[in-house]
Amino acid sequence: MKKESRRLVNCAALAICLVLIVLVYATLFQSNDLKLPGNEGGYRLSDSRSNLWSERINIDAVDPQEFLLRRLVRGDDRVRFESNGFSCHTDVHSEVFVANKPVRIFNKGLTVYVPHDDQPQVKRTVKPYARKEDETAMELVSPVQILHGNSTINPPPACNFTHNVTAVVFSSKGFTGNVFHELNEIIIPLFITTRHFRSRLKFVITDFELRWVRKYNRVLSHLSGYDVINPDDGSVHCFPGAVIGLKYHNNLAINITDIPGGYSMFDFKHFLKESYNLKTSHVSEIRKPVLMLISRRNSRRFLNEEDMVEMMEKLGFRVKRAEPEMMSNLDEFAEAVNTCSVMVGAHGAGLTNEIFLPTGAVMVQVVPLTLEWAATNYFGEPAKAMGLRYLEYMIEPEESSLFDAYGKDHPVINDPKSVISKGYYAHRAVYVDGQDLKINLERFKKILIEAKQILETSTPFNRRT
Ligand SMILES: *[C@@H]1O[C@H](CO)[C@@H](O)[C@H](O)[C@H]1NC(C)=O
Ligand SMILES: *[C@@H]1O[C@H](CO)[C@@H](O)[C@H](O)[C@H]1NC(C)=O
Ligand SMILES: *[C@@H]1O[C@H](CO)[C@@H](O)[C@H](O)[C@H]1NC(C)=O
Ligand SMILES: *[C@@H]1O[C@H](CO)[C@@H](O)[C@H](O)[C@H]1NC(C)=O
Repeated sequence: MKKESRRLVNCAALAICLVLIVLVYATLFQSNDLKLPGNEGGYRLSDSRSNLWSERINIDAVDPQEFLLRRLVRGDDRVRFESNGFSCHTDVHSEVFVANKPVRIFNKGLTVYVPHDDQPQVKRTVKPYARKEDETAMELVSPVQILHGNSTINPPPACNFTHNVTAVVFSSKGFTGNVFHELNEIIIPLFITTRHFRSRLKFVITDFELRWVRKYNRVLSHLSGYDVINPDDGSVHCFPGAVIGLKYHNNLAINITDIPGGYSMFDFKHFLKESYNLKTSHVSEIRKPVLMLISRRNSRRFLNEEDMVEMMEKLGFRVKRAEPEMMSNLDEFAEAVNTCSVMVGAHGAGLTNEIFLPTGAVMVQVVPLTLEWAATNYFGEPAKAMGLRYLEYMIEPEESSLFDAYGKDHPVINDPKSVISKGYYAHRAVYVDGQDLKINLERFKKILIEAKQILETSTPFNRRT
């Protein structure tokens, strides 16, 4: 008996000690936290940093900067990185410079100085936007000049702000304003490049677009535990290391074998779920099927949208029509999409929002004439990789406004290849920007019935969250 109670006392003492230790740590980290936002040249945006606390706990066990940076470097580049402390990798889509050395960032973020005593200064230029193959996009992106080497001749300015986590430098220009490009060329590449840092990094945004930063504030504040830095005011920021440019895999894709930390598209979806506070994980949680119809204004419009909605409602769907202006408030729109079991839309950027659909939901893409390749590669394959069921509705020539405009004997209708062979702009003007759709309701109904059957038999077997 006595032994028993002594053990109890010991246990209690131990527990009290543990609680005290946790409290002491908590206080230490808390005070560290409070210093973070806003006071180091950071750009403050209001956002609940509700998960900062849990991220901070993780940080406790985080690897040193060198290890985190090294994971971004592969193959021959790694040998170089280990001897010189930097690497510059370039492929078809992106250029990424990684420095495990103190860097100085100035000139609106467009000059990065990396000291290296033993070599004469080498200049490199990186455009930190992941669409290198697209000249039109890249023209909009300011080049970042990297000065690497001995600084005797050209000494860098003194630091205004000294940070103690890695800088990740990227541009918010390029094709921003188009949600596909925003996700494809910035948001997903940011996740690929930085998720394994577990928030211990600061974003330095060149070509700073406040609207873009506001729109994606939730993503940015869940990838970094610090405010983003807008270097436009001319101040000089010093960091212990830097990544300039973002890694890219494929259209709305994450290649699990090629990302530090082995994250997958499912991890990215889970990350979005947390960031946007989305409630529905699997489509089976939605009782009555809800269909979101993506409504377009400029081209590839549904000319008989009212009739389509009526038919959908008759089939038992609750229909939500998504107008383009609803999509600019992503925080709200992501939640709206997440409550839907089916998304229907003509090929176009709005379909990128499929990323917010719950797992097992059905994505129906309406494919205008000649846009098969783009449809499959930009939204179809990605939908499958996101755990959605993907259905494609290829229109018949009669369902295209081009049929009425040109007539059935015109090459635009009976020999599209001849138009396509005239080049990108010729093709674009006719089929991408000049085509509207009048859907054959009887034929389209079949695909919606198929969607309904998929939902009825759907079970949350592949639920990940
Ligand atoms: C750096 O460059 C200056 C001028 O070219 C030279 O005098 C100096 O020796 C160099 N320093 C080192 C460490 O190589
Ligand atoms: C980083 O800087 C903050 C203040 O800017 C400081 O409180 C913290 O201890 C530093 N952390 C490390 C790991 O040096
Ligand atoms: C940065 O520091 C320099 C020199 O120390 C100073 O002249 C300049 O005003 C500072 N800039 C900012 C934005 O604080
Ligand atoms: C994923 O990355 C690995 C390693 O870089 C590569 O071998 C593989 O082909 C990639 N897979 C896809 C689908 O791109």
